[in-house]
Amino acid sequence: MSMIDVRKLSLDLGEGVRRRQILNDISLSVEAGDSFGLVGESGSGKSTVLRCIAGLYRHWTGEISIDGQTFASADRMGWCRKVQMVFQDPYGSLHPKHKIDTILSEPLRIHGFKDIDRRVSQILTQVGLGPRFRYRFPHQLSGGQRQRVAIARALILEPKILLLDEPTSALDVSIQAEILNLFSDLREQLDLTYLLVSHDLAVIDHMCSNLAVMRSGSVVESLSREQMVHGGATERYTNTLLRASEKYDRELVDELAAAS
Ligand SMILES: Nc1ncnc2c1ncn2[C@@H]1O[C@H](COP(=O)(O)OP(=O)(O)OP(=O)(O)O)[C@@H](O)[C@H]1O
Ligand SMILES: [Mg+2]
Repeated sequence: MSMIDVRKLSLDLGEGVRRRQILNDISLSVEAGDSFGLVGESGSGKSTVLRCIAGLYRHWTGEISIDGQTFASADRMGWCRKVQMVFQDPYGSLHPKHKIDTILSEPLRIHGFKDIDRRVSQILTQVGLGPRFRYRFPHQLSGGQRQRVAIARALILEPKILLLDEPTSALDVSIQAEILNLFSDLREQLDLTYLLVSHDLAVIDHMCSNLAVMRSGSVVESLSREQMVHGGATERYTNTLLRASEKYDRELVDELAAAS
């Protein structure tokens, strides 16, 4: 069964004469436990797709289902527990005046979890930080550690799906490999499903079994990782995109190989 099913998703954004169609009949499907890549040029609508699935935009047309339930029939709190987002910038996405403890326990309190204390220290260990980070502020952490906190926060409500929007592109290349491997481990341990946006095809190659290529708000082509790597793309735009990144970030590929 699909864990994420998007059918004919369309969305307009902007005010007055500036209003225009941003997404145009997007369809994609991600199997439970899979990691699915979303690629395409800047402005093609990748983040907007994630925002629609996360429930941050609500005026789209079409259908979005997760875990067999449509967005229209789901309650907001329940949806938010199942789908969480991780953003590119760990600096911007954590409240600077809140300690890690507050950042992680607040969602648990809002959603009525018991056993908050144990859950917070468990998640810190799961993301490789450990309890000693609990009473620090975000500015007392490195970029990689901050991204681990952002991942912990995304996981704290025990979601089934993570929407990852360029989750490593703000990080140093050696840290990128560490964080990507953490994502791979967590997906296995916690039975997660990923929808991952990256402009870096080495990242997609390492993380995803299937992907969709977007351009100007539409899906141009859907293909498997094997097709991407072994010249099986049929659309001209996909091939241009692949050629443009043929020099694949060699440094990152080597780091990934060394770290796994
Ligand atoms: N709130 C908004 N109002 C109007 N237009 C918007 C809004 N948000 C995004 N857009 C436009 O929607 C289009 C898609 O944006 P989106 O952020 O989804 O692209 P993207 O594929 O994630 O790009 P990037 O790779 O640069 O992150 C862009 O042309 C953008 O300018
Ligand atoms: Mg984006």
